[in-house]
Amino acid sequence: MTQATKANESARRITASAPGGIGNIGPALDVLGCAVAGARDEITIAWRDEPGIEVADAGHPDLPRDAARHTAALAAAAVMRRAGAKHGLTLWCRKGLPLSGGQGGSAASAVAGAVATNALLGNPLGTEALLASCLDAESAVAGRHLDNIAASLLGGIVLVRTLDPIEVVRLPVPAGLILVLAQPAQRLLTVVARRALPEQVSRADVVHQIGNVGAMVAACYTGDVALFGRAIDDRIAEPARAPLLPGFVAAKRAALDAGAYGVSISGAGPSAFAVVSDDLIAHAVATAMRAAYLAAGLECTTRVTRVDSDGALVNQDNFPHPGEASSRGAK
Ligand code: HSE
Repeated sequence: MTQATKANESARRITASAPGGIGNIGPALDVLGCAVAGARDEITIAWRDEPGIEVADAGHPDLPRDAARHTAALAAAAVMRRAGAKHGLTLWCRKGLPLSGGQGGSAASAVAGAVATNALLGNPLGTEALLASCLDAESAVAGRHLDNIAASLLGGIVLVRTLDPIEVVRLPVPAGLILVLAQPAQRLLTVVARRALPEQVSRADVVHQIGNVGAMVAACYTGDVALFGRAIDDRIAEPARAPLLPGFVAAKRAALDAGAYGVSISGAGPSAFAVVSDDLIAHAVATAMRAAYLAAGLECTTRVTRVDSDGALVNQDNFPHPGEASSRGAK
């Protein structure tokens, strides 16, 4: 065992969980992300005598057991590499988030895998190295972007200023912010949805996006949910991806008519989200969105929820210090 792993030999097995989220939050393509309360992916990591990473449970029959293709295993391997650790690992995945659903599921698996591995090693990596490890994993399976990863690791609403070097800013969450998530019965691979993005955009669209992203950041600091929702007006990714998403345009119209402040695609889709500040309106919006997807021939589940402020958590049961409460995995 290397120096790094010696710190935590008492731990045989660690479980970490991480929330899903909404990438982009509308106009902030690859820049803003928020963690969403509720469903989480959970990864357990244990020492193994043989070198390399064995995926004992991929978490879903459609996910690969090949460690070179499973996002949690890729993130665990990246943590081992950065920590200079060589020991073998076994990994078990429990998926709480949908596959290719636009709810940050692969980012959540990567984050939980990275955090569990880091905890097993005695937490040698800090936040930036954990983000970089998850980014390695996401780049291999879904594209090089950090919006879902940063929100899943840190919780809350997070702005990604740059990838090189990695710099992220955690923004305040408006107290009244309620999210409605609609998940139509469709799968869309992020790599496919990213291929639909335009290589070039007009100056008018850039100006429009900058104004709206700036307004969203201002709304976070002032707690203005209506402004936050109004600013969800994306002229780059949404028009390019909407043709891949049956029912989305009608669901958006229905949600706005039911009183949502703003609606867009969650991450790369197919899920959609709406911003509201009133519980009754939230349920009316959820009903309206589901009806629109059903009318388009797609079954749809909805959730009324809020921003998750915890981010990644290490499961207390498997943590090496039994008296310690659940703790964030990053230093
Ligand atoms: N920012 C990413 C995208 C989120 O829109 O492609 C998807 O994971």
